[in-house]
Amino acid sequence: MPDDFASDLLADHHIVVTGGGTGLGRAMALRFADLGATVTINGRRPEPLAETVADIEEEGGTAEGIPCNVRDANEVQAFFDEAEERQGPVTRLVNNAAANFLAATEDISPNGFDAIIKTNLYGTFYCTQACGRRWLERDTEGVVLSIATTYAETGSAYVVPSAMSKAGIVAMTRSLAAEWGSEGIRLNAVAPGPFPTEGAWERLMPGDEFEQMMRERIPVRRFGEPEEIADLASFLLSDLSGYMNGEVVTFDGGEALAAGGQFNAFTRMPREEVKSILNHLRPDSSDDSE
Ligand code: HXC
Repeated sequence: MPDDFASDLLADHHIVVTGGGTGLGRAMALRFADLGATVTINGRRPEPLAETVADIEEEGGTAEGIPCNVRDANEVQAFFDEAEERQGPVTRLVNNAAANFLAATEDISPNGFDAIIKTNLYGTFYCTQACGRRWLERDTEGVVLSIATTYAETGSAYVVPSAMSKAGIVAMTRSLAAEWGSEGIRLNAVAPGPFPTEGAWERLMPGDEFEQMMRERIPVRRFGEPEEIADLASFLLSDLSGYMNGEVVTFDGGEALAAGGQFNAFTRMPREEVKSILNHLRPDSSDDSE
């Protein structure tokens, strides 16, 4: 993989990654540390946090893991107090922690709905507000990056609470970009397509056949790599993207756009076969058999 960033791109930053012990959060935490940042990760389970911290330290990076359930406003406050006590003022926040499962909407219980909405929407708001308050009080700049999804815009069957919460995250990003922009605080989001992390795959990928179908929907014919999101996130947290505010960056190999185009199904056929069909449709086609 090309490595074009300066090795100190994120030096002098203390970056919090929620849900940083596993999946995309872990990949981002590793990359930020690799680019010079001091990192604090949180999550409900201490074990993955400890593992990721150990991996960062093994590479010479600086990291701490502090257990926290982002659904709980008091825990979030205590988390930021402790993170700053241990590693100094937080300068960047990545709202990555997410919950999701596939379910027919009529079968979702209030607890199931709460588990998703409270993790994704409440958790993102609590963490963002906690950072925003600190930055405003200190009169310092800051950047918030939230992980949304492409179906925040379109909606999606069978993941309705996730779609609702991610749409809320996009609305928060755009609203606060306007409200806090003049105070030096930027907010952006990434809207990923499917990324094969353990957490997402075990809940959202029913089997090999479905996985193949999902892959074929993507114009570049592959899933994204967590390290690719980590690079994009590094750019979005750095001063390289200093003029970007309120943006939702789609990062899906073209999947969402391809799902919308009426004639995109042709791209799943061999190109020569498509051309032959198209030639037959031409008014000057010599084929007048119909
Ligand atoms: C219906 C379900 C369910 C399912 C759980 N519930 N799984 N209902 N279908 N598959 C219900 C339970 O029955 C319970 O309701 C309620 O949800 C809470 O479940 P618990 O297990 O008690 O709670 P909790 O430990 O908080 O678990 C939350 C969780 C779990 C969301 C269910 O999956 C989780 O913690 N996930 C975190 C990690 C994660 O989801 N990662 C994937 C994000 S990927 P009752 O009424 O019985 O008490 C992602 C990518 C999107 O979002 C883009 C993809 C393309």
